[in-house]
Amino acid sequence: MKFFIDTANLKQIEEAQSLGVLDGVTTNPSLMAKEGITGNNNILKHYVDICNLVDGDVSAEVIATDYAGIIREGEQLASLHPQIVVKVPMIKDGVKAIRYFHENGIKTNCTLVFSAGQALLAAKAGATYVSPFIGRLDDVSTDGLQLIEDIRTIYDNYGYETEILAASIRHNMHVIECAKLGADVMTGPLSVILSLLNHPLTDIGLAKFLADHQKASKS
Ligand code: E4P
Repeated sequence: MKFFIDTANLKQIEEAQSLGVLDGVTTNPSLMAKEGITGNNNILKHYVDICNLVDGDVSAEVIATDYAGIIREGEQLASLHPQIVVKVPMIKDGVKAIRYFHENGIKTNCTLVFSAGQALLAAKAGATYVSPFIGRLDDVSTDGLQLIEDIRTIYDNYGYETEILAASIRHNMHVIECAKLGADVMTGPLSVILSLLNHPLTDIGLAKFLADHQKASKS
């Protein structure tokens, strides 16, 4: 399973990268705004800064919602750096644009996916990644993990190569369940990635090993 970090915060990206388990980054307009990145030039520069910190794919989202605008913005984003993946919303013009990008060798991440039908369309259009938002589905009392399972089944039935990028991950059980269901990628905040480290028996066991070592070296 690939691990992406879902943030535009350079320090957090650096920390995840230094752990040695990071495969990429996803951003969105809300995450960019949270870091105070405004103005087209600053936004474009920030994407390049992120690319220079990590080895893998970096999703950069278009703001346009019409076909011509999505193509224009997507081509500009893709030309910034070879690691850029153009993030396109699941709307009619977005699906058309994903097909265009696919035919022109530009990687895409189809975002804001909340149903199996939307995921099927994204795969048919040739999306590199599809991003089902499982946390936001859970928020409205709908089983987000069930959607991951459904998409996995559909993609396997037909051999679609679009990678399932489980997004809107809220806690470490989301990661574990997505891994069991065969999601190709998960994207989550640094806190969720780090929370995978934790187990009380590890802490207790380590404290005991160190205490025994201390005792033995005194005797
Ligand atoms: C995915 O690419 C999105 O940026 C993200 O996972 C959305 O998560 P949220 O529901 O926590 O905002």
